[in-house]
Amino acid sequence: MLTLEDVFPPFALRISSGPVELRVLRDDDLPELVELVRSGIQAPGLPMPFLTAWHEEPFAPGAPDGFPTASLRWWWTQRATFAPAEWSLALVVRREGVLVGVQDVQAKDFVHTRRVLTGSWLGRAHQGVGTGTLMRQLVVGFAFDELDAEQCESGYVVGNHASAAVSRKVGYVDNGRRRIAQHTRQGTVGVDEQRVVVTPATFVRPEGQVSVEGAEPLRRLLGIDR
Ligand SMILES: CC(C)(COP(=O)(O)OP(=O)(O)OC[C@H]1O[C@@H](n2cnc3c(N)ncnc32)[C@H](O)[C@@H]1OP(=O)(O)O)[C@@H](O)C(=O)NCCC(=O)NCCS
Repeated sequence: MLTLEDVFPPFALRISSGPVELRVLRDDDLPELVELVRSGIQAPGLPMPFLTAWHEEPFAPGAPDGFPTASLRWWWTQRATFAPAEWSLALVVRREGVLVGVQDVQAKDFVHTRRVLTGSWLGRAHQGVGTGTLMRQLVVGFAFDELDAEQCESGYVVGNHASAAVSRKVGYVDNGRRRIAQHTRQGTVGVDEQRVVVTPATFVRPEGQVSVEGAEPLRRLLGIDR
């Protein structure tokens, strides 16, 4: 009998180090994930971190609008449109087994560009204890070591000191600034985004041992030849 992991290999991926584990989002994770978002993401004094304030939508499970219905569409679309030419993985981050945040990694034409983009967030109660740094180190190391990526790009709204600090600690260097449109609850505003990029030459690896399971079937699904 085939398993779910045989049918959709991203589900077999498990990246871990010490107390932190990254796995592809499953439907069973959704209740815990929705509760986490509801308990708050944005730290006081820091700018709204996302392109769209999805996390501030009215909390209305089961309603046609608001959170989580619109976000469910986004998470499920990533799975429904997953293909070698363009893919996106929402990696659920657990610390000591507790769901604490999400580390996204995505790419377009990866076999030709060898470049991935990342984005991440943690529930407010789980910030400031090093998880944000470790989860980014884990996903970047996975991209370099298991997918043979050559560049990992990211970006943060200028003034997001926590995200800037994580990027600096993981070895990213500045890659230009650009003006972006941010869709807040109060309307659309223009803000400056700092782009950052890390390569194997500048990457700062985590101190602890890293374990990766399920990379080979994922490479096959993504058309990555070694
Ligand atoms: C950005 C985020 C993922 C960082 O994760 P984290 O676990 O809180 O960060 P860490 O504990 O690994 O800390 C990394 C560094 O950031 C610094 N930092 C954390 N919060 C900070 C703040 N509010 N202001 C300034 N620096 C801060 C820490 O001091 C640490 O640096 P140090 O080790 O040199 O002291 C997390 O704060 C978060 O989810 N924020 C809201 C969403 C968001 O901004 N996502 C990023 C979008 S680009």
